[in-house]
This record gives sequence, structure tokens and C-alpha cells, in this order.
Amino acid sequence: MPAELSPIDKAKFLAAKRATDFVEDGMKLGLGTGSTAAWMVRCLAERIREEGLRVVGVPTSSRTAQLATQLGVPISTLDEVKWLDLTIDGADEFDPNLALIKGGGAALLQEKIVATASDQMIVIADAAKEVAQLGAFPLPIEVIPFGWQTTKALVEETLVSLDVMNRDVSLRMNGPAPLLTDESNYILDLHLKRIGNPRQLSLVLNQIPGVVENGLFIDICDIVVIGHPDGRVVVKDINTGSVEDDRMEFAPSANIFADMD
Ligand code: A5P
Repeated sequence: MPAELSPIDKAKFLAAKRATDFVEDGMKLGLGTGSTAAWMVRCLAERIREEGLRVVGVPTSSRTAQLATQLGVPISTLDEVKWLDLTIDGADEFDPNLALIKGGGAALLQEKIVATASDQMIVIADAAKEVAQLGAFPLPIEVIPFGWQTTKALVEETLVSLDVMNRDVSLRMNGPAPLLTDESNYILDLHLKRIGNPRQLSLVLNQIPGVVENGLFIDICDIVVIGHPDGRVVVKDINTGSVEDDRMEFAPSANIFADMD
């Protein structure tokens, strides 16, 4: 077990742990991607071990599939399962309407497909992800490698007429080569600083040939669980308007760190 978790990891762990309380026996689950979602997979694995919880997960990336398999969380494919009860995933930013920027981990395409095919989506995050307006985090879009430079130019041209503060677009790299997504596509990061109209931007971006999907998740997330390093956990439900503000004890079992040793 690691000597001490960083404050940010404590916050992520608490959000993930609280979110797994929403998981019921027999559920079909979308399993998100990223460091916060990895905590959720660990917490889920613990409930499976300790309580005999029966679930099946649809991972949103090869990384999550690998972690789930390693920890004994049963997985399947979306084509097999077809529809999910609940998806739990991280986010790079969320605003007061629970609109999200996702894709910092390059898995936005599978994440959006899986979250959209779910009755409910819960986002788990540390408090730093909460913003008044989206856009400080670069917005990722997944593009087909064929003609990507033309696609990039079209994206830049499109941004000129949109309500954003900055318009730089960069190709995400993995060392000397473009980063490849699980679907063998590229990621363009849109450095916009402020997005005035996320809904319009999302619609317009997806009209550009070569753009497969963008990282704006609008009207998809139902609940956000926000963890704080001091044990405070806030649960906001956009559908009911309820806000629960509680404290949790930070007491992870040693088992939960099994994959990190
Ligand atoms: C993966 O593509 C992303 O959408 C992640 O969910 C997002 O980047 C959050 O990641 P962290 O939990 O690692 O911050």
C-alpha cells in the first residue's frame, strides 16, 4: 500500500467510493476512464470481494478493461449488454448545469457512447473540476487520421464565428508520433479558454467531416459526486435539484491498493 495518498487522490477516492453506493446488485455498469474512474473500479472490486455484489461492467477504454480484469470486475461489451443501468466516470470540467468537458485521457468517444447508452450517468471529481463556465481545460475532439490537417483547418475556421475566447488547436502527441485513441483516431485539443455556448459548439463541431466526436457532454450527466481531501463529499443531482453535503471517513482497506503495489 502506498505510504500516503496525495490530497487530490484522497478527494478522488472519496468521490469514487461515495458513487459506488449507487451501484445495486445485478446492475449493468459503464466503467469510465482516468485516474478518478480507476478509484471507482477499485472500490467496485472491493464491494464484489466483500459483499459478493454481482455486476457486469462495460469499460470505456482498453486501460479500464485491463484494470477491471486485473481486479476481478466482470466485463462485457456494449454490443453484448446493449443498455446500461448506470455509468460512473470522471470529467475534466463540469459546470453548474453538469455540462462536461471530457477526453483528457483520450477516451471521449467510447465514454460518450457508453454514457449515452445508460439510464443514469454519475460523474466523480475532485473540487478543482468544478467551473462556472467550461473552457479553461482544452476541449478534445476525436478526428479521423485521414486528412486530419484539413479537418484541423476547418475546425479553426469554424471557431472564428463562435463564442470562444481563444482559438488555438493542437494535435495531441505521444512522444514523436500523434497519440492514437483506442479506435486508432487522433485527438485535436481546442484551447478555447472560455466556451460561451457549449451546446452550439458541440453541434457545429460534429458537423465537420473528419470529426468523429467532441468532448462536450451536454444533458448526459445526472449526478456529480465531488470529493474534497478533508473528507467532505458533495452530491448534486441535476434532475431533482438536491444537494447532499456530507463527510466521509478516509479509511480505505489495504486491499484497495492491490494493483498499485
Ligand atoms: C478520459 O478520456 C477522460 O474523460 C477522463 O474521464 C477525464 O480526463 C478525467 O480524468 P481524471 O479522473 O484522471 O482527472
